[in-house]
Amino acid sequence: MVGGGSTYTPELVDGIAAGRSSVDVDEIVLVDPDTDRLATVGSFCSRLLERAGHPARIRTTTSLADGAEGASAVLLQLRVGGQVARHSDETFPLDCGCVGQETTGAGGLAKALRTVPVVLDIARRVREVAGEDTWLVNFTNPVGIVTRALLNEGHRAVGLCNVAIGLQRLFAELLRVDTGAVRLEHVGLNHLSWERRVLVEGAEGATDRLPELLAEHGPRLAEHVGTPLGWLRRLGMVPSYYLRYFYAHDEVVRTQRTERPRAEVVSEVEAELLKIYADPAVVTKPAQLARRGGAYYSEAAVRLVHALTGDGAAEEHVVNVRNERTMPFLPEDAVIEVPSVVDGKGARPLPVRPVPPLLSGLISQVTSYEQLALEAALHGGRDRVADALLAHPLIGQYEYADALAGTLVRVNAPFLPWA
Ligand code: G6P
Ligand code: MN
Repeated sequence: MVGGGSTYTPELVDGIAAGRSSVDVDEIVLVDPDTDRLATVGSFCSRLLERAGHPARIRTTTSLADGAEGASAVLLQLRVGGQVARHSDETFPLDCGCVGQETTGAGGLAKALRTVPVVLDIARRVREVAGEDTWLVNFTNPVGIVTRALLNEGHRAVGLCNVAIGLQRLFAELLRVDTGAVRLEHVGLNHLSWERRVLVEGAEGATDRLPELLAEHGPRLAEHVGTPLGWLRRLGMVPSYYLRYFYAHDEVVRTQRTERPRAEVVSEVEAELLKIYADPAVVTKPAQLARRGGAYYSEAAVRLVHALTGDGAAEEHVVNVRNERTMPFLPEDAVIEVPSVVDGKGARPLPVRPVPPLLSGLISQVTSYEQLALEAALHGGRDRVADALLAHPLIGQYEYADALAGTLVRVNAPFLPWA
């Protein structure tokens, strides 16, 4: 696990501990530059495994080469610049009346520019020591852009996010069925997705129970994804929570002007978590971890790694993969987030029904932005940054693209190899 000192790591290790029969893990190596965090998180993770009676060992190291050697899968979960950089991503766009968010809009671009070079460097070094067959499971945000960078360089990578599994769990709970019986017709990009159908296996095959969910649990769903109930019912689809930053942009900006940035809240939660992890008496996952946004990450990740490294039957997972011709209106090398067939050979997108213009316009535009963001991350230059901002549907004006490009490059310069 690269970024193994993250306060999220115990979530993942707990998932491995809980699913002891499903994934055959003998060693988990936490790689991180922060030795204090490694020590605290590492020993807590060892206690979690021991308590669960799981035979895997935890090892910690600051050396990527040492950590990656012999790995079947490498999980990427790093945050370049930490919560301080996130704080900047969440605040600087507000000066132009644009949303301040760590993965969406100008903040997401800043994060992509800081992150892509670091992740590519890590991937190359991993390939050197672990070989070409090692799977890279990428949770590093912005997942779509980072995964596209990895796939363009020929790495064996799959991008993962918890939005789909979170909704799948919610639908299953509301319908009172087993989670395993619920399949989502999920379409779009990472953090820009919609659920078009909720297929539940029954005696007579799969039926779409989304209409029933909207009729009977509308208010609960509307609140969960931050969409007005009337719109939700009329669309007949469930947009993810991240669509709020588009469909309720100005409303979100108004709240952000008075609210504490999420980075501040998360920093406090992290300090509290690290204190708990440091207590040798604590041997189970603390409830405070649920205050982070990563619910069900561990399950999604463990199941995905299992499918990629095992020799079992192919499974269906919602993951970030190369488009190929799945959505014919997008470039083949775009990275999309759709149900895919996953096995030891990798993840292949399942066919997608024709996408209505209400969705395809936004998906296309954000895909073009992602392409320009990746070009800016790889080749640098203030003009490339400004172009990506101009192409972004939430920015899109010369005045704001210029101003935000200036601030972005200035405040992120320590992390930009070209600035
Ligand atoms: C969700 C998203 C992740 C994001 C996280 C933020 O899980 O899918 O991509 O990193 O929320 O959670 P946080 O607790 O850091 O705000
Ligand atoms: Mn995500």
